[in-house]
Amino acid sequence: MKGLKRIQLFEFEDFEWFPGWLRSCMTRLIVILQSMIRTDQAIAVLIARVYKEKGIMPIVDLGSGAGGMMPDVLGLLKKQGYDSATLLMTDLYPNEQAIAKFNGKEDPSVRYSEQSVDATNMRQSPEGLKTMMNSFHHMRPEQAKKILASAKDARTPLLIYEMGENKMPLFIWWLFLPLSLLILMIMVLFMTPFVKPMTWQQLIFTYLIPIIPICYAWDGQASMPRMYALKDIDILLEDLHGNDYKWEHGAALKPDGKKQGTYILGLPVN
Ligand SMILES: C[S@@+](CC[C@H](N)C(=O)[O-])C[C@H]1O[C@@H](n2cnc3c(N)ncnc32)[C@H](O)[C@@H]1O
Repeated sequence: MKGLKRIQLFEFEDFEWFPGWLRSCMTRLIVILQSMIRTDQAIAVLIARVYKEKGIMPIVDLGSGAGGMMPDVLGLLKKQGYDSATLLMTDLYPNEQAIAKFNGKEDPSVRYSEQSVDATNMRQSPEGLKTMMNSFHHMRPEQAKKILASAKDARTPLLIYEMGENKMPLFIWWLFLPLSLLILMIMVLFMTPFVKPMTWQQLIFTYLIPIIPICYAWDGQASMPRMYALKDIDILLEDLHGNDYKWEHGAALKPDGKKQGTYILGLPVN
């Protein structure tokens, strides 16, 4: 696709050969980072807006991986009075550990689907508000477009959120890469004690053999230029506008008005 700022760098966690336990160690760190910057608040603000406009509906999270922040987001929504809100996490490759963790809990409002759910085919996914958290940048342009087109085609509400924004010129990103990698690796050393659940691999491969800090730092940095910039989203949405479905995108805001990440919201027009 021509004219995109986004570039297709690799991330370790996307490789099929990348060990699942190592991927889980990294996703647990991403959850810590997200708790620190409170992405749950920015996401809850957006979902509350959809609820106000369209009424409360089940949240069907796509590409959930290990779960990410969505269970926390649901908690926030309930605190705001949306008691009947529910969350179904799904993935193309359902995460066994997450299934055991969430489906074993007594609270029936949070579940993880054992069936594979493909984000590019929303007609076949369960009814509700589809969400995609921090996974859209993993999608190549053709796949990203397919996801957006699929939501419009199925006339299903879709909320895509990324915790960052790709606005830095690429040459500056390259220039600061060594320093940024170093900072992220040091951050991992301080974040690791807060990881839940703690495993021996998380400790050994952070403090003795630092594979986790290296992979986390690279994936974190590579995510930035892989994100679709706001202008890229215009290109993706170019021929997806119509009278029966409306799109908007921009900076996501926390309740205090501070910017936290970017979003795309697609809503069917009644
Ligand atoms: C970065 S991870 C999960 C991020 C998670 N939402 C979070 O916030 O921590 C991206 C996930 O997308 C899933 N995925 C990739 N292609 C997909 C597709 N076509 N449909 C649904 N999920 C997909 C992967 O299996 C992976 O678990």
